[in-house]
Amino acid sequence: MEYKNILLVIKDKIAFVTINRPDKLNALNNATLDELKNCFNAIKNDNAVNVAIVTGAGEKAFIAGADISELNKLNTVDGKIFSEKGQEVFNLIEKLGKPVIAVINGFALGGGCELALACHIRIANEKAKFGQPEVNLGIIPGYGGTQRLTRLINSGRSSEMILTGDLIDSHEAMRIGLVNKVFSSEEIMGKAIEMAEKISAKGQIAIRMALRAIVSCDDISETEGQNLESSLFAICCGTEDFKEGTLAFLEKRKPNFKNM
Ligand code: COA
Repeated sequence: MEYKNILLVIKDKIAFVTINRPDKLNALNNATLDELKNCFNAIKNDNAVNVAIVTGAGEKAFIAGADISELNKLNTVDGKIFSEKGQEVFNLIEKLGKPVIAVINGFALGGGCELALACHIRIANEKAKFGQPEVNLGIIPGYGGTQRLTRLINSGRSSEMILTGDLIDSHEAMRIGLVNKVFSSEEIMGKAIEMAEKISAKGQIAIRMALRAIVSCDDISETEGQNLESSLFAICCGTEDFKEGTLAFLEKRKPNFKNM
């Protein structure tokens, strides 16, 4: 598929996905969602990729939400399809099986905040602004935001953001657990790459098993989760990477993981 609204670059086992509609503050139109779906499926199936980094083009926005010019035309039937389509793409990101880091470099509003929520690690620059302003348009978040935001930052804070539509800055976002860290605009991508390289240097079977256990948290009970955890732990124990990692520790050297 030829991409017109996103950029995909793969370098040193890291996939860089950039939403590329800066003149529209990277608003997610239907075509962009189709491209994101195709792109993340490609990343999922590409053995040469260990980690993905998602960001927005330009200086101003990560993603300023769903494209309001398309939203405006929806009726009840289309609305359901529209919401489910975004949910499907964001679920694909969350369940990718590989870590996805959101580099939030400006406005992360509506669907932009929801896309960030579907990523596994969120870092922001000092200019970033977060919000779920859908109520200002007479709708509610429809790409998983009511669920993911509430689970991540608790129902009181999520209610405040969703019901007032107010924006918060990156320091407040960090204080309430919406992002992990805040960096300057100049250093943020370097920090994301550093983190991606650190993850990429581990044994990828352990990384993927850990991510699977973490992501399952929202869908299953504590007992089921611990059962899954012990099964995934057992799978790790059967790998060559486990033998290598433990032996390297005992021999006081760096492990040489082969992802086997
Ligand atoms: N959908 C479609 N177009 C959007 C958009 C969106 N979600 N957000 C921004 N744009 C477009 C604007 O229409 C404008 O296009 P134009 O130059 O062709 O008129 C361009 O991006 C720049 O936006 P502008 O509003 O001029 O920038 P600003 O700096 O004055 O304001 C925001 C920035 C983010 C505060 C403002 O654009 C905004 O509120 N956007 C909508 C946010 C929103 O409600 N998102 C949730 C959607 S469900």
